[in-house]
Amino acid sequence: MRVIFLGPPGGGKGTQADFIAKKYDIPKLSTGDLLRESVAKETSLGKEAKGYMNRGELVPDAVVIGLVEEKLASPECQKGFLLDGFPRTVTQADQLSTFLESTGEGLDRVVYFSLSKNEIIRRISGRRSCPECKAVYHLESVPPKREGVCDVCGKSLVQRNDDKPETIESRLSVYQEQTAPLIEYYKTRNILSELDGAGLVSAVQDRLVALLAQPRVE
Ligand code: AP5
Repeated sequence: MRVIFLGPPGGGKGTQADFIAKKYDIPKLSTGDLLRESVAKETSLGKEAKGYMNRGELVPDAVVIGLVEEKLASPECQKGFLLDGFPRTVTQADQLSTFLESTGEGLDRVVYFSLSKNEIIRRISGRRSCPECKAVYHLESVPPKREGVCDVCGKSLVQRNDDKPETIESRLSVYQEQTAPLIEYYKTRNILSELDGAGLVSAVQDRLVALLAQPRVE
């Protein structure tokens, strides 16, 4: 399976990507996670990306494309992959398509997570993550068993820098201007499936599993 999860910030892509990657035994490539890891390790790429991320802007295409192509060329991605948060611009999508053509592989499906703006803001504002094992929680919808503590590894949970109220609006406008055009881009290529991202995590998961089991509508 070679699939892309596309959608607004806070749309639930990462939450569902972890589940689907395990279920289908394919690697999940999340550019957000890869970039946050580089920032935490203070690599030169991380130092370059940090400012863009904290302002809620996209990291330059060339940086992200290089990162993804290196991963896609690795042996573990030969059996398939799930791209979470990439591509996010038409340039990234064009480059990905060129790269996949050069390997003789195509994409199976792009899943577009749709969600209302109010719910996006509610989800982003309440998100807390584990800096150690990267588990993601929500203060109301997906709370940890002990307040502020990761269920998996016991570390204190943190709020992402770009989840602060002053950055959320800017991420939403960047999404509308630069990423939302990809909905039409993939629709015209008959590869887009829309998923209603509202409701409980388990309900979205059930809809997603059912959608992935269907043949694509050409
Ligand atoms: P990235 O990490 O990719 O952020 P994003 O796309 O904005 O997505 P999020 O991680 O915010 O949300 P999500 O859809 O994964 O939702 P989640 O499952 O966590 O990117 C961060 C930054 O990196 C970008 O701003 C940019 O600077 C840079 N970047 C990354 N990729 C790039 C690229 N390709 N090009 C250039 N720059 C790039 O869920 C959100 C919350 O809701 C959680 O608290 C979760 O517990 C909760 N939740 C999930 N599902 C449900 C549900 N069904 N009901 C209730 N709560 C739910």
